[in-house]
Amino acid sequence: MAIKKDLSIEYLGVKFENPFCLSSSPVGSNYEMCSKALEAGWGGVVYKTVGIFIADECSPRFDNGNKEGTPWIGFKNMEQISDKPLEKNLEMMSKLKKDYPNKVLIASIMGSNEEEWAKLAKLVTEAGADMIECNFSCPQMTSHAMGSDVGQNPELVKKYSKIVSEATHIPVIAKMTPNIGNMEIPAIAAIEGGAHSISAINTIKSITNLDLDHLTAMPVVNGKSSISGYSGAACKPIALRFIAQMKQHPKLKDVEISGMGGIETWRDAAEFIMLGCRNLQVTTAIMQYGYRIVEDMISGLSYFMEEKGFNSLDEMVGIALPNIIPAEELDRDFKIIPKIDDEKCVGCGRCYISCFDGAHQAIDWDEEKRRPVINDNCVGCHLCLNICPVQGCITPGEVKFKEGREPHDVIFKTKYE
Ligand SMILES: Cc1cc2nc3c(=O)[nH]c(=O)nc-3n(C[C@H](O)[C@H](O)[C@H](O)COP(=O)(O)O)c2cc1C
Ligand code: SF4
Ligand code: SF4
Repeated sequence: MAIKKDLSIEYLGVKFENPFCLSSSPVGSNYEMCSKALEAGWGGVVYKTVGIFIADECSPRFDNGNKEGTPWIGFKNMEQISDKPLEKNLEMMSKLKKDYPNKVLIASIMGSNEEEWAKLAKLVTEAGADMIECNFSCPQMTSHAMGSDVGQNPELVKKYSKIVSEATHIPVIAKMTPNIGNMEIPAIAAIEGGAHSISAINTIKSITNLDLDHLTAMPVVNGKSSISGYSGAACKPIALRFIAQMKQHPKLKDVEISGMGGIETWRDAAEFIMLGCRNLQVTTAIMQYGYRIVEDMISGLSYFMEEKGFNSLDEMVGIALPNIIPAEELDRDFKIIPKIDDEKCVGCGRCYISCFDGAHQAIDWDEEKRRPVINDNCVGCHLCLNICPVQGCITPGEVKFKEGREPHDVIFKTKYE
């Protein structure tokens, strides 16, 4: 029988039936879409960013990053905020809240000056939003008073966070741009300004591919293109890094975070939660696979919790953080020599080539058996383990202590799925 755990969690004092929300984007840009998503099982929606400004979009506006025939390892969009009139969006938000009182409605707003931020905060509050997300981070806005340029400027982030939180009684989330070195700086500014939470990350400024015929980037808009936002699976490592750094900062460690950037599966969800997120948002995976992915995320997370003995998501939030430490504090006393399973090995030779050309010439090739053999040059870097195409064929083996170092117990990963 299928296991279904209680995945409910409070974020900013509001109960979500599960942590999964649409992130602000085309996947939640009208009533019908949000309604379909909520029926499919999403815990809440962050409605497509609304502003006084109405977007005038270009065509085409999407491209995807790919490798070795796998498309959508990342996704580039050149989209702006909502292209619908504000009144229409407010109407749809009101109807959503009325029809789905137990789901959570988060309004994403973007103003271009103080008056607009305050006005938008009031209007979405009146429309029934449970929370407001301030979009300080869209990389495609055509004005420096809007978008990710605001997110790079801590004074502006603080000023607008203050204006919005003074104009509403509902919780305020500040959405960060990853187009910056230290996200902690604008995040602290947002909290000092009065925001209650941080959401991260918005898209990463990018050029995915060039069109070699038209000598411009993709997508090609009448012969030209622009630098714009990259999202999806390829961004997950960058999102997780920013989130961990914020949660480990003394001024931000108690600030609740809504995480996003490449979440596609229950495993991604578990990773964001274990690095401190109480809420999760998704766009690119929905654009690729549809709202139904939430069913797999709910069921996968339930099985994982059952297997590991977690009774609630609360028990999981942030539990991996103490194990992310500065590089200078890592135990450097040993090397772990990989172990090759000759039965599983298919004799492709990739480990031999990679170790020779990219590591330490520590694999000899047995021509007769067509099998790799590790020699004394091995430094334990595990390039071979990462390159081997056969699951579980190369695994960590013997732990060897460096000369003069005191042997001690070592915890390491042995199971690779
Ligand atoms: C086509 C597209 C449009 C987006 N529009 C918005 C937007 O209007 N407001 C906003 O805050 N973020 C917007 N985003 C960013 C997403 O909400 C999200 O932060 C980002 O895509 C990372 O999550 P993902 O990897 O799950 O897509 C957009 C993303 C995409 C792909
Ligand atoms: S761990 Fe590194 S050095 Fe050792 S065999 Fe593998 S690739 Fe070569
Ligand atoms: S990469 Fe894996 S399968 Fe290929 S030769 Fe090396 S151990 Fe065998």
